[in-house]
Amino acid sequence: MVATALGLEDFTALSEIQCKQRILEAKAALGSRLVILGHHYQRDEVFQHADYAGDSLKLSRQAALSGAEYIVFCGVHFMAEVADILSSKNQRAILPDLGAGCSMADMANLAKVERAWRELNTVLDADKEITPVTYINSAADLKAFCGRHQGIVCTSTNAKHVLEWSFQRREKVLFFPDQHLGRNTGYGMDIPLDQMVVWDFDKPMGGLSKQAIRDAKIILWKGFCSVHQIFKPEDIDRFLEKHPETKVISHPEASFEVCQKSDYVGSTEYIIQTIKEAEKNTRWLVGTELNLVNRLNDQFKSEGKSVHFMSPTICMCSTMFRIDQPHLLWCLENLLEGNVVNQIKVDVDEAKFARLALDSMLGLSI
Ligand code: 13P
Ligand code: SF4
Repeated sequence: MVATALGLEDFTALSEIQCKQRILEAKAALGSRLVILGHHYQRDEVFQHADYAGDSLKLSRQAALSGAEYIVFCGVHFMAEVADILSSKNQRAILPDLGAGCSMADMANLAKVERAWRELNTVLDADKEITPVTYINSAADLKAFCGRHQGIVCTSTNAKHVLEWSFQRREKVLFFPDQHLGRNTGYGMDIPLDQMVVWDFDKPMGGLSKQAIRDAKIILWKGFCSVHQIFKPEDIDRFLEKHPETKVISHPEASFEVCQKSDYVGSTEYIIQTIKEAEKNTRWLVGTELNLVNRLNDQFKSEGKSVHFMSPTICMCSTMFRIDQPHLLWCLENLLEGNVVNQIKVDVDEAKFARLALDSMLGLSI
């Protein structure tokens, strides 16, 4: 018999210390039945409980490898979906707060992508000429769309390899939902900017002429990350005027202009590794989410490294930021009572095709 689920309201009034203690106890009691995966953007109170921390690629691999019965994902909705798709039937993926989403992922949906595909088919033979590539920051049905059309998923770590894989198969790529990752990666592969056109999903034919579509190498979905688009080239100039010795490092979801002005561009994991391996007493200006930047600054202060946030205005990933200790504890204590709350379950048929696209990505050597 399944017990009545414990209500969240009993957890929200607990202090940070009480929550922490009870989370540690619940983790110990669940033992190897539980694994907690935590993305680098998580707030510290939750991040400290992660068994594995990483960027999207590392965590996807970890989800696929994990034998735990319960995979609790401290991240956002699409990451928990990936965990569900890549894990086996008897494992459960859990997202402690169902409101934890990604606003960029929401900028593309199946109806709009299917419409784009139909419209592109009026100009080209889409299935023969275009590989659809979805950034992992997208819903499962878009990954399934890619699986159905011989496409693939990418993360910020492997986008270049994924584009190479795609161009070996077809001449063009439809890249969604993040135009910046697509453009920054394409440019790094010597694709000229004028061969990367932006598909405005609110306009007929993406707002493009037939000729522009025929001439394009990459068709970029008009999506963006509101957290990363806050960074401006002027922020870099202003900082360098005061501290010219600074090294600049950005996530490829930042704009083309910001990435061009950066010394290094890469995923959250890459940013961490680069600063970790840097010489002592160096100064860093970082274009990514604030939780991670603050953590890096605290972590490497003792080596004389100072790590600064790129923008004068605060930008947090407010949706990812939602998961807190009370939600995590609520999930774990429910598991101890035999209740699985906030399970993320992808439709079986959708999962089958999404897995094809994910497996193509995971099969690459990076
Ligand atoms: P990473 O894969 O680099 O961690 O990026 C995930 C993300 O959502 C960045 O905004
Ligand atoms: Fe999505 Fe941007 Fe948040 Fe990453 S930082 S999860 S892309 S909204």
